[in-house]
Amino acid sequence: MAQKNNRVLVVLGTGGTIAGQASRQGDNVNYVAGQVTAQDLMAGVPALSGFPLEVEQIEQIDSKDMHWGVWKKLIARVAHHLARDEVGGVVITHGTDTLEETAFMLQRVLRPNKAVVLTCAMRPATALVPDGPQNLLDAVTVAGCKEVKGVVVVVAGQVHRSDHVTKVHSYRVDAFDSGDAGPVACVEEGVIRWYHSAMAVEDGTQDKGLLNKILAAGTLPRVEIVTSHADADGVLVRSLLIAGERDPRFMPRGLVVAATGNGTVHRALASALSDAQSLGVRVVRATRCARGVVIPGTASPFPDSGGLSPVKARLALALLLLAQDETAGAA
Ligand code: SIN
Repeated sequence: MAQKNNRVLVVLGTGGTIAGQASRQGDNVNYVAGQVTAQDLMAGVPALSGFPLEVEQIEQIDSKDMHWGVWKKLIARVAHHLARDEVGGVVITHGTDTLEETAFMLQRVLRPNKAVVLTCAMRPATALVPDGPQNLLDAVTVAGCKEVKGVVVVVAGQVHRSDHVTKVHSYRVDAFDSGDAGPVACVEEGVIRWYHSAMAVEDGTQDKGLLNKILAAGTLPRVEIVTSHADADGVLVRSLLIAGERDPRFMPRGLVVAATGNGTVHRALASALSDAQSLGVRVVRATRCARGVVIPGTASPFPDSGGLSPVKARLALALLLLAQDETAGAA
């Protein structure tokens, strides 16, 4: 049985479908994300009244438009609340579309030793049967559990690690999956049932230097994703290099290739990527397969992503480049 921490739980709203409104009740696809405040969402779930909650609205956006400015604000507020002794955990309401990126970013940057739980919904708040209220209740339950340390995603009754979770469906309410690893737990009627014994996601040691650098950075270093596919010819990569020669702001410092299968890259694209590499651009291979990873040790001039999906490999590389920069924001 999970132990409640009985401390304050802070709910940070960022928008998304969970806060979405349609003009016609029951329309689950034509709606505007990020309309209902986090405060009103919480008020709509009477079962939450027994929890010691504080609510703060960070943003009201459709997460497809997530950008560095919002991430910085979110990182700063999460770090602030986690540092408060009386706070036991943080819940973040978020759109589903880039939720895995925000979760991954927060874990990498903050390495929290308390629970940071992202939740969302696939149906707007005005749906006939919205999924948001149950997800919120489950998320608060998980955030209030002492054993949870690190950033997790709670959706459709399941708890996912930030490094494994991916949105895999465009419509279903159980749209998230943790691939081969599977979810770490489920939430059933307010009770967490663990599939794995330990929940400490990482070591919980925050790199304060990196955090300060991140909070000072005007932008993340530019890392773009290119896909290897039949008929690829590398023109996209070469165009990026030309754009970067004309204006240094557009020069990619890193490229993630969403490679075929076990990290293979079309030879024409590989040739363009090698040219980029010889100009100092870091190139990383992730697989475009929905499941599995690029097996380490496969011969290639481009290192693999360490099991990260293309979007997470992009963030990991951008953060690495930022950490290596002499001055923050020198993207
Ligand atoms: C969004 O990501 O903000 C919109 C889509 C969703 O939340 O399902």
